[in-house]
Parts: sequence; structure tokens; C-alpha cells
Amino acid sequence: MKIGILSSGGDCPGINATIRGVGKTAIMHYGMEVIGIHNGFSGILKKETQQLDERSLSGILNLGGTILGTSREKSFRKLLASEESGQPSIIKQHYEELGLDCVVCIGGNGTQKTANMLSQIGLNIIGVPKTIDNDIWGTEITFGFDTAVNIATEAIDRLHSTASSHRRVMVVEVMGHHAGWLALYAGMAGGADVILLPELGYTMEAVNHTIMDRAHRGKPYSIVVVAEGLSTPEKKRPAAYIGKAIEDGTGIETRETVLGYTQRGGNPSPYDRNLATRLGGHATELIANKQFGKMVCIKDGTVDSIPLEEVAGKLKLVTSDHDLIKQGKRMGISFGK
Ligand code: F6P
Repeated sequence: MKIGILSSGGDCPGINATIRGVGKTAIMHYGMEVIGIHNGFSGILKKETQQLDERSLSGILNLGGTILGTSREKSFRKLLASEESGQPSIIKQHYEELGLDCVVCIGGNGTQKTANMLSQIGLNIIGVPKTIDNDIWGTEITFGFDTAVNIATEAIDRLHSTASSHRRVMVVEVMGHHAGWLALYAGMAGGADVILLPELGYTMEAVNHTIMDRAHRGKPYSIVVVAEGLSTPEKKRPAAYIGKAIEDGTGIETRETVLGYTQRGGNPSPYDRNLATRLGGHATELIANKQFGKMVCIKDGTVDSIPLEEVAGKLKLVTSDHDLIKQGKRMGISFGK
């Protein structure tokens, strides 16, 4: 068999470990031929590919980013939608000209949606979920998330000492798109006093009450973790909006830090390397067994798979009954209400 691998959407730590897991299993265990498709789905359109062999797959396990390059898939999905309505299929044609038996699509929600569309026009597709946001439906965890939690937690740890020295409120904005997973996990691990998630909503009265209450109990500084997807008036940047509203409402000096792309750059954590390796290996196993149209996933802690059509277009969000939220509340951490 000849398989293609592509990475699409925002990069994250662990993509290269996945490419290695898929590729090495394919070459060494199943004797398949493997090509890398450049820059996401656009590489199929432009037929930009490279042969992947044992050599090119070596030394990339701990490497951040993606050796294949990536791109956002919106324009490709538009083209695909027109193909679905009967236009001549350039994508299918290129897939056949490249001699592919399957394409492994490593990506987030958008990618899994596109992967499902490709599967529905008759291509053999396997999806591998990746994102620091951990918001992909159908899998308990995505690689990239653990690394991002580590990075954000370390940043919050560092903000504690400067916040306490200056008796300030530090507002830290973490990524996560529409989901609050990163804010919840890094906030709890970093000992935040207030954690604001897009899923739960908040009032400034409740946030400021927590900060003033701490001040009255002899703790003149606070750490507030906010998710980037938090809704704010006039769509203001959450850290900027919340920071100003705290300073205005409490009179306590407040500073903001936006962690941004540092959260998805650099080397994957050991946990993410192993998760990516397991998911990659399972993707190849599915191909060998001709079980296409699926996304590999983690279910009940083990590697499994789920039909792409069940995943496409859905989001996995934090719910208020999450045990970390319940436990946080029992310890006096405010979730904004
Ligand atoms: O999906 C991962 C993510 O890093 C989100 O947390 C963030 O909102 C988004 O990507 C930013 O992506 P872009 O690369 O398009 O700026």
C-alpha cells in the first residue's frame, strides 16, 4: 500500500511524533510506502509531496511544529463542497495520480470535518486528532494539550512571585479557541484564584468579590486565569477587558499577560510524545485492516477509533460538573459566578 500523511490547521507539539508513529509503523511493520504531503490539504491540490523513509522519520520525535508544514483548510473545504455538488474532482484525480491508498489527516476540528468530506467523496481517509485546545469530539484527550498545560502552568507559577511582591492582580490569558480546557487545567495546576471559562460565563461582581475577599483575608494579590474564548463587551481581548474591570472595580493594581503562541511552540512533553506515537501506530493499523473513514481516539484510556462522520462538526466543551471545577469550588476558587 502507499499512504500519504498531511498535517492541517494550527500546529501543535506532537505532530512530528505522530508522523513518525504512522510512518515507521507503515514502513517497518507493514512494508508500506509513505509520502508526506506538504502544507495541509493544499499539498494535494499542488501535488507537493516528499518520500518519507526511515531516515527522514528519524530525529523528529521531540521536535515541535510539523516537518510537513501546515495551513488552514477553509478555501480547500469550499472547493470540496463544490466537488460534492458534482464538479470535476481535481482532488480525487490528484489522489489517484499520486497512487495513494489512503491519506492520514492530522489536525483539529476543521481538519476532521474536511477529512470526513474527503471520505464521503470516496477517498480512503484516517483522521488523527491534534490540538492544544483538547476540544475534539470523540476523544478523551488530544496530543498538544499536555504540553500546552505544562507551558501555561509554568507561566502561572512564575507570575505568582511577581504578583505577591507587588501586591497586584495578575490576569493571564491562555489559548483554547471556544473551549476552556487549557484555562481549567493550567489554572488549577497553577493555583489560580479565579478561573474564567467560555462555557460557564461570569459576572464582574463575582470576580471582584473574590479578589476583595482575598484582600480582606490578608492576601493582597490574586491570579486570574482567563480563556481566550471568553465573551466580553465589544469582543474586547479577555485579558485586557477583565484586567481593567478588576482594577476599576477593586482599586487593586492589575497587570495582564497573554501567553499566545508560546503555548503551542516547542517540544512536546513525554506524555504527548507517547500519545502521538500510540495514535499514529493505530492509524496505520486501521489502514492495514482497510478500516477507513475513521478518526483514531482515546476511549476509556486506551487507543480506539470512531467514524469521522460522528466527529465532524462537533465540539467537546467543558461542562460545569467537571470534577476539577467541583473540587476547585470546594477550595474557594472562583469560576466567575
Ligand atoms: O486551535 C489551536 C489554536 O492555537 C487556538 O487555541 C487559537 O485560538 C488558534 O489556534 C489560533 O490560530 P492561528 O494559527 O490561526 O492564529
